[in-house]
Amino acid sequence: MEVIIQQDYEQMSRTAARIVAEVLNTKPNAVLGMATGSTPLGLYQELVRLHQKEQLDFSRVTTFNLDEYVGLTVNHPQSYHYFMHEHFFRHVNVPAQNINIPSGTTSNYPAFCEWYEKRIAECGGIDLQILGIGSDGHIAFNEPGSSLTSRTRLKTLSKQTIDDNARFFEHREDVPVYAITMGVGTILDARKLVLVASGGHKAKAIAQAVEGPVTSMVTASALQLHRDAIVITDEEAAADLTMRDYYQFIYAAKPAAPK
Ligand code: F6R
Repeated sequence: MEVIIQQDYEQMSRTAARIVAEVLNTKPNAVLGMATGSTPLGLYQELVRLHQKEQLDFSRVTTFNLDEYVGLTVNHPQSYHYFMHEHFFRHVNVPAQNINIPSGTTSNYPAFCEWYEKRIAECGGIDLQILGIGSDGHIAFNEPGSSLTSRTRLKTLSKQTIDDNARFFEHREDVPVYAITMGVGTILDARKLVLVASGGHKAKAIAQAVEGPVTSMVTASALQLHRDAIVITDEEAAADLTMRDYYQFIYAAKPAAPK
């Protein structure tokens, strides 16, 4: 696992966007895995800037989102469909037919989950998966106790996640209790993983994920099993890492990417 500690949120976001852009420059028809939440907002902003100012092209890109709340329609302001259109898709040129986001309103969840997995495979698998991390160590909505080989399925959200996400809803009771989410196994199948984390409230989860044991109690720790996983944090989210000087030494010694 590569750990990149950046000074602040803006630098973290720019570094993550540069990695996405590098993938698109080498493979213009790449399949991207998308995440929602507050953390990747800066990354999406930077990708939009690269598209508008530096011709970063998404016209051959296919995307798969990690998750969606069960029960929210695509137009609900807190749905991940809405989030993605608002913060990313309406600003770039990903063809509408190439955008895949789990349905929060299907009448048959098991069949939908199976179809989603099949669709990812038909598109050749995910080249780069963007991830955030929950304060309980989750990736996507793989809450503590999720199997590390799990696939796309329905999941009950933990109390911690409901509390964390209540900030986006008017009342805590409005936060959906269920989500449809890619599994940890689905995520590990992506060829490259980029996890972004910012702020002191993520420090414990990052330390557990990067330096703790691989355990289903912290599903982000499964990144340790992946051959190409990059964790990018700001200083605050890196605060509990015992090897932080070492990660910084490695990153500083790394040759700059060719322009
Ligand atoms: C969202 C997702 C979640 C978030 C995580 C952190 O698609 O997969 O795992 O990445 O809950 O959310 P923020 O960034 O809002 O702290």
